Amino acid sequence: MRGGLAWLVVAALGSARGEANPAHPTKVRAGLALPPCDPLAPRPRVHVYNLPEDLTDAPNSERRWRSYAMFFARVRTSPFYEADGRCADYFLIPHRAFTFVTSKQPAMRGLAPRLFSFIAQRWPYWNASARVDSARHIIYSPCDYGPECLHVDKAYKSRSARRLPRAHPADRTRLVLHVELTGREDWRPSLDGGETCGRCFLPGVDIRLPSPPDHNCGPLCGYSHAVLVRNAIWGRPPAERRALLAARREHTFFFAGRSMHTGDARSLLRAHHAGRPGWRIGVSAGLGGRVSISDAMLSASFCGSPPGKQDGDSDRFLPALLFGCIPVFFEHDGQREWRPLEGHPDVPWDAFSLRVRTRDIAQLHAVLGNISHARVVRMRTAMAGAWERMLFTSFPIERAKFDWWRMRAEGGEWAARKSWKWASYLGESGSRDAFAGLMDILRARLQPDAPPLMFTSNQRALEAQLPSGVSS
Ligand SMILES: *[C@@H]1O[C@H](CO)[C@@H](O)[C@H](O)[C@H]1NC(C)=O
Ligand SMILES: *[C@@H]1O[C@H](CO)[C@@H](O)[C@H](O)[C@H]1NC(C)=O
Repeated sequence: MRGGLAWLVVAALGSARGEANPAHPTKVRAGLALPPCDPLAPRPRVHVYNLPEDLTDAPNSERRWRSYAMFFARVRTSPFYEADGRCADYFLIPHRAFTFVTSKQPAMRGLAPRLFSFIAQRWPYWNASARVDSARHIIYSPCDYGPECLHVDKAYKSRSARRLPRAHPADRTRLVLHVELTGREDWRPSLDGGETCGRCFLPGVDIRLPSPPDHNCGPLCGYSHAVLVRNAIWGRPPAERRALLAARREHTFFFAGRSMHTGDARSLLRAHHAGRPGWRIGVSAGLGGRVSISDAMLSASFCGSPPGKQDGDSDRFLPALLFGCIPVFFEHDGQREWRPLEGHPDVPWDAFSLRVRTRDIAQLHAVLGNISHARVVRMRTAMAGAWERMLFTSFPIERAKFDWWRMRAEGGEWAARKSWKWASYLGESGSRDAFAGLMDILRARLQPDAPPLMFTSNQRALEAQLPSGVSS
């Protein structure tokens, strides 16, 4: 395909008028001006819709929640931003990113149908994507359960999908791709003969991102940046890192945290393995708890990453990778959990993580006991090419976040000290960060043979996009 998705629109318009498809996007035929798209601009070209306020407006604090504002700022200042929708491959939809508190607000009701019908009426790109049968509209939805950032339901049924043609989470032919933190493929037959799902992850369409910088258990999970730098294995001198990768660790398995999901991975772990020698199964972690996550992950070979709240995002995989602890994901039978940036060539999850069915948790000690130390070392070493892809190094982060946990412990007033900085967590450049990885995946859908692109962020432009009222 030569230009963006929009080029198809123009080509289709051209053929509707009985003309041959234009040979070049800058050519003008029969009064039909074709957009001056830059043929050398890197793909994917991502356009951001400019929507009326009643469809997008949200309080500033929510816009910042889970890097919502940062995500849009990063797209707008990246080489992939396309100001002219006619040249774009993908269309990012701003919306009321909201938390469970605002989901009860009347303004949210009926928002999704209004939003999508506005887009389909106002611009030709939605209909064009239907013609080529391709999900080119992007919703950034960092809520725990995935699509519920925009759609108020939590159990989606194909029957209700009829009211929102090709935009509903439970429509497998949807033209919208969710960029989200959960990867649960939980589709099952419903009583009305259709399907139902709660997370509705569509493999090959939706993309799971790693936990963003301001997530409770993102790169900082109960410890400060200083502790991360001291304990993580990837920022250390090569000889020290090699020794840590090869070392036997004191504990076989570690998990500590709350149990708030509908499945049973966390309680099964406790029931079957609490008190087992070499196993650390804790109830609470981090602040006020007895366990330091960074110390515990650094001294364990395997780290549990069970599903989060109501089977939503599981987040422990991220600190686990930073401390060289092999993440163990848990899956309900028949519900695959797709992992962050899965499919990206730099992130071969099976080389450095495990997936265990919840019904096998009782046997987890046998499963792990079966894995040789040599294989453990190989798995740890395989994380070396992947950990940078799990970090949003090119996003600015609240400086205070680096010290959030410490300040909370000391009863400090962290909100008053908000300021922004770019976070190189362990000395990495950011050219291979999670955002770049997301762009790689989107590009591969357009140009399957293209190699990953390296790019650096335009920090000056990013700075101009910081939320107003804060200085960098
Ligand atoms: C897209 O298709 C719908 C349904 O056919 C139609 O109502 C709408 O006007 C079309 N949008 C545009 C911009 O032409
Ligand atoms: C241990 O490994 C062997 C050989 O790969 C396999 O047949 C067996 O099922 C494994 N046992 C467990 C408990 O995973």
